Amino acid sequence: MINPSDYFMCDLVNLGSIDPRLASIYAPEPELGGQKIGITAQFLENAHVYQQGHFQFAHFNRLIRQTLHKIGFDISKGVSVLDIGSGFGNTVIPMAEIFDEAVIIATDLSENLLSMLGGHAAKICPDARIGAVCVDATRDYIRPEAFDIVVGSYILHHIIDPKDVIAAAFRALKPGGVAVWFEPFEAGFAVLRTIFEDLMAAHDSGREGMSKELREFLWRQVRDWKTRSQPDKPIDLLRRLDDKHLFTRHYFVSAAKAVGFPGAEVFALRGPGPVFRDMVNGLLGLNPLSNDTLPDWAWERVDYWDTILSPDLQMDLIFQGTIIMRKA
Ligand SMILES: C[S@@+](CC[C@H](N)C(=O)[O-])C[C@H]1O[C@@H](n2cnc3c(N)ncnc32)[C@H](O)[C@@H]1O
Repeated sequence: MINPSDYFMCDLVNLGSIDPRLASIYAPEPELGGQKIGITAQFLENAHVYQQGHFQFAHFNRLIRQTLHKIGFDISKGVSVLDIGSGFGNTVIPMAEIFDEAVIIATDLSENLLSMLGGHAAKICPDARIGAVCVDATRDYIRPEAFDIVVGSYILHHIIDPKDVIAAAFRALKPGGVAVWFEPFEAGFAVLRTIFEDLMAAHDSGREGMSKELREFLWRQVRDWKTRSQPDKPIDLLRRLDDKHLFTRHYFVSAAKAVGFPGAEVFALRGPGPVFRDMVNGLLGLNPLSNDTLPDWAWERVDYWDTILSPDLQMDLIFQGTIIMRKA
């Protein structure tokens, strides 16, 4: 049975000794009772609602397999995996399925999400190869050079200074180890922002068919992308925001180099088909009025963008991306 303490430099406390609902979730002793900074209610009090809307084990199983294949990682060997910001296990469970003998340490700042992970792990991976530790990803408690793979899926854009987490991943990896991140990128959303601004301007100058609520939804999206793309955001804003950043390839290459990786490789994550129509469709699904759709003239404008980008540029224009950092 896995002992999470083997992977940490400080004493760990089993939180079950404080709250029986948290049995088998550990936390660094120096962190007990500490304030959780920069994380919002959706991952803490509202963790159940979050899980309902984001359950994607099959998707991540496919994605991680494709990624490991692309980078030539041998999946037949036993590995140690650190999952940073694991939540309820979207990447933890697939890693346990892909690597028969992997030992996995899942870390997150939300005890509630880790407790849900415990439920999934008991069903899917009953051989207790998964340990759960409630810890802030920016902290420096993990034993250096203990892991073959670090996985961080949609964690970095929630962190005030993501470079702190990239540095933690570097320390945790063995030489030859690899960090795999999945994150949102500014490039794709910058173009989408232009499209949404164009649609709002057309609506405001009298084109009919777009509801007031939908116009407001487009505006909220534009405001969110604009805020997250802003360099040097003030600290009080970063603490308050849930989604704090959109990234660039340049950011990852320079952050990786700054903490000791030789660099970073970035791949666009997307399926076949028209990228802008798919993105707009996906976003409209997030609108509380999800049956409220764009009028035909607006879809024509969205489709126009899908005709002007070459397939190569569509691959360069990243909305969601995989980032690979290899430790020499
Ligand atoms: C978008 S969710 C992604 C969860 C999971 N990796 C996935 O792909 O489903 C972001 C996760 O980061 C966690 N988180 C936010 N801030 C954190 C921090 N400072 N340290 C550790 N985890 C944090 C949240 O609790 C949440 O589980």
